[in-house]
Amino acid sequence: MSLSQIEKKRLNHDLQVIYDRIRKREYIMTDFSQDNRFNIPDRTKEFFNYLDSYCDTWKTLSKIFNKLNVKNYDNVVDLCSGWAPKVTLWFFYSDYSKNLILLDKDKKSVWKLINFMKLFKPQFKLKKQNFDVFWNFDFKSLFIVWNHIIDDLIVSYYWKKFNYNISDLYISEKNLLKCWNNILNSWESFKIDISVILFNIFDKLLWENWIIILSQYQSMIEYLLDLENVTKYNKEVLYKIKELFLNTWKYEDLSDISFQVLKSKKDAFSALECIILKKKIWQ
Ligand SMILES: C[S@@+](CC[C@H](N)C(=O)[O-])C[C@H]1O[C@@H](n2cnc3c(N)ncnc32)[C@H](O)[C@@H]1O
Repeated sequence: MSLSQIEKKRLNHDLQVIYDRIRKREYIMTDFSQDNRFNIPDRTKEFFNYLDSYCDTWKTLSKIFNKLNVKNYDNVVDLCSGWAPKVTLWFFYSDYSKNLILLDKDKKSVWKLINFMKLFKPQFKLKKQNFDVFWNFDFKSLFIVWNHIIDDLIVSYYWKKFNYNISDLYISEKNLLKCWNNILNSWESFKIDISVILFNIFDKLLWENWIIILSQYQSMIEYLLDLENVTKYNKEVLYKIKELFLNTWKYEDLSDISFQVLKSKKDAFSALECIILKKKIWQ
């Protein structure tokens, strides 16, 4: 049987995808050909693989949280919490009994997360607030966790600025790649802009004695789609934000804590991928 040009092109593409999956050992995670078929054991295993990776994140964060006695804070904000129980599970396992506020512009994600956490009957109160961080928003908390959100905020800001529909972004690999290509190729200065915008939002919000933890590390999507440049870009934004915070002299750098506790290769992120700042009491 001879193949047409378009068949050859598509076959070539499929083989390249299979080659990449073998190279990255992705068949350990899932059987892609069965993805849309009935295969309960594989589906279940895939679900637990995800849960494992969420647990890796909260276990890593827990080392920092314990050092900072987060348990004693009356209110903690999980900023842009999304739907995955990464930060929330720590509060369950540590017997936290106060208020955890989930802040995200997407109501459905927050509901999914609250419903999932209800399965565990946590002692703490889960509160939700739906805001877009680029618009007016306000909350009262002494402790803010900002886990892996720089990439989402960059994309959300950029996509909106150019009048694209944000809901198209995460459902299409093509759109996500297009967005990042635009950001990486045409806009070196955008890196500075977005860092200043994010810094200004938080500097206005943070009160004296407030602590903020910002972590940004390689995501599963960045790994699967070979987006090393995106990972690098996001980390540069993280460090630019830190520099802006410290240049005001209003913040104490507590990042040394992560160097003390994040020493294992099993940690979801390294000390270099996390910053911790506390707003000083102004004399
Ligand atoms: C994919 S989640 C990942 C972050 C999450 N902290 C984690 O560790 O899994 C990103 C979340 O950021 C939210 N988000 C993106 N842009 C936002 C914005 N401008 N304001 C508020 N939430 C935003 C999205 O709705 C989404 O639920």
